[in-house]
Amino acid sequence: MTIEDKIKELTEMRAKARLGGGEARIKSQHEKGKFTARERIDMLLDEGSFEEFDMFVSHRTVDFGLDKQSYLSDGVVTGYGTIDGRLVYVFSQDFTVFGGSLSEMYAQKICKVMDMAMKVGAPVIGINDSGGARIQEGVKSLGGYADIFQRNIMASGVIPQISAIFGPCAGGAVYSPALTDFIIMSKETSYMFVTGPKVVKTVTGETVTDEELGGAQVHGSKSGVTHFVADDEQEGILLIRKLISYMPQNNLEDPPVLPCDDPIDRLDDLLNTIIPENPNKPYDVKDVIHSIVDYNEFVEVQRHYAPNIITGFSRFNGIPVGIVANQPAYLAGVLDINASRKAARFVRFCDAFNIPVVTLVDVPGFLPGTAQEYGGIIIHGAKLLYAYGEATVPKVTVILRKAYGGAYDVMSSKHLRGDINYAWPTAEIAVMGPRGAIEVLHAKELKEITDPQKRLEFVNEKEAEYKAKFATPYVAAKYGYIDDVIEPRNTRFRIIRALQALATKKDSNPPKKHSNLPL
Ligand code: HXC
Repeated sequence: MTIEDKIKELTEMRAKARLGGGEARIKSQHEKGKFTARERIDMLLDEGSFEEFDMFVSHRTVDFGLDKQSYLSDGVVTGYGTIDGRLVYVFSQDFTVFGGSLSEMYAQKICKVMDMAMKVGAPVIGINDSGGARIQEGVKSLGGYADIFQRNIMASGVIPQISAIFGPCAGGAVYSPALTDFIIMSKETSYMFVTGPKVVKTVTGETVTDEELGGAQVHGSKSGVTHFVADDEQEGILLIRKLISYMPQNNLEDPPVLPCDDPIDRLDDLLNTIIPENPNKPYDVKDVIHSIVDYNEFVEVQRHYAPNIITGFSRFNGIPVGIVANQPAYLAGVLDINASRKAARFVRFCDAFNIPVVTLVDVPGFLPGTAQEYGGIIIHGAKLLYAYGEATVPKVTVILRKAYGGAYDVMSSKHLRGDINYAWPTAEIAVMGPRGAIEVLHAKELKEITDPQKRLEFVNEKEAEYKAKFATPYVAAKYGYIDDVIEPRNTRFRIIRALQALATKKDSNPPKKHSNLPL
């Protein structure tokens, strides 16, 4: 063979590998409104940056006639490339080859990129579209999954891991994405479940479709399994590129600060009047977020799940931050089980990857009731408390209005190592709201007043007294729990100053094997 022949052979093998399961299956993939594994990688990475590994890998199973059916790449495309010039490792499951099902060699390919990503300290992005364990390979496939899980666990908190779900993801296969930092699902073309509709029907008698059981909208709003629901794959991929821009390459680096020409001292007069006079009236805390961050840009995480708390990424003068904010426009911004879990996970991600946390507080307390107590609000609420208390990243807090009871402590208070804690003049920091407080403090007197009019007058008078004393930020400020009371319209400037001052913050926790977070 001449060198020309050898190069021709190489070119032909490459072309064959690029075809995956063949033209017909690619066509069928497109007809389902889905892209192929390689098309997805091309969309994700900077043009021309992809370097592929293991294109010539194929399975080594002979059972079930597989010795006669083999494809180069074996159903997963792996390698590395860049996003906005920054290195990332990727794997993209190829549904056109055995339905993207996972074999021993396929798992080894994924493990190889994960190991390399860990060695060099770069994020891993996995695109999932698979029928699960390759049935013909039996336990070798199950072992392959577990090899990936183990790597997901070791990489957790060391390098960012992002999972896109652009097709089926079922059975134990769901646990690799579940172990990663963020999941993005495409609407209508993806689903995730531990057991599919047929098994559900047999075991529980319920009749559900794939979409109803584990579609993007279900996991985006009901279970909270997915952090993002994308209208289509392109939107999902753009979102991954955006998310990566807020993250460092690994836990030893700081997230990238971008140049910013949005003025740091931009005032917004609307903020001075955004809090309604009536303390029971809602407003949208997202208006506050959009007003204070660079270019009004906010990437919301878990938008449709537990909307009583808002989580997401933004920048202040180019510095990436995670924002956590109670949302008075939904359930009055109360903390419940789902909100606590959602925000705790987010704060822990930010802390693991050196992303400062900015917290905007307007919380009436924890949600009362048997549903919450039986569901373990004690343990779940403790997660958020734990996450804030454990976090050593810069923590800047602004109390906008209510900070009542235990929720005051939880929401990045000074007592949980909050670094810079501000309050608006509209802040009300107290053990509980005025009405509840009066009922406890004046229970005896209230019992004795039988005339409804007199009772009302008494309550109003006591409430006014209570509000004057406690429904202000000044008691907390008197004790130094609040560093300053700031004018709302100047919030952007004050947060930026705080973040700049905290840029060199060093804090640590005592050495331990690992913490015992209340799970
Ligand atoms: C081998 C598989 C496969 C699998 C699909 N295929 N799943 N081959 N192992 N797990 C093959 C099909 O035979 C078919 O081959 C091709 O992929 C496309 O599949 P279709 O069924 O034609 O596609 P579609 O109608 O879109 O349905 C997709 C599907 C379905 C819903 C994923 O294929 C399916 O239900 N597959 C089985 C899923 C499953 O039970 N997996 C095991 C789960 S348990 P041809 O040659 O015709 O193109 C598991 C445990 C993991 O994963 C544990 C980890 C700890």
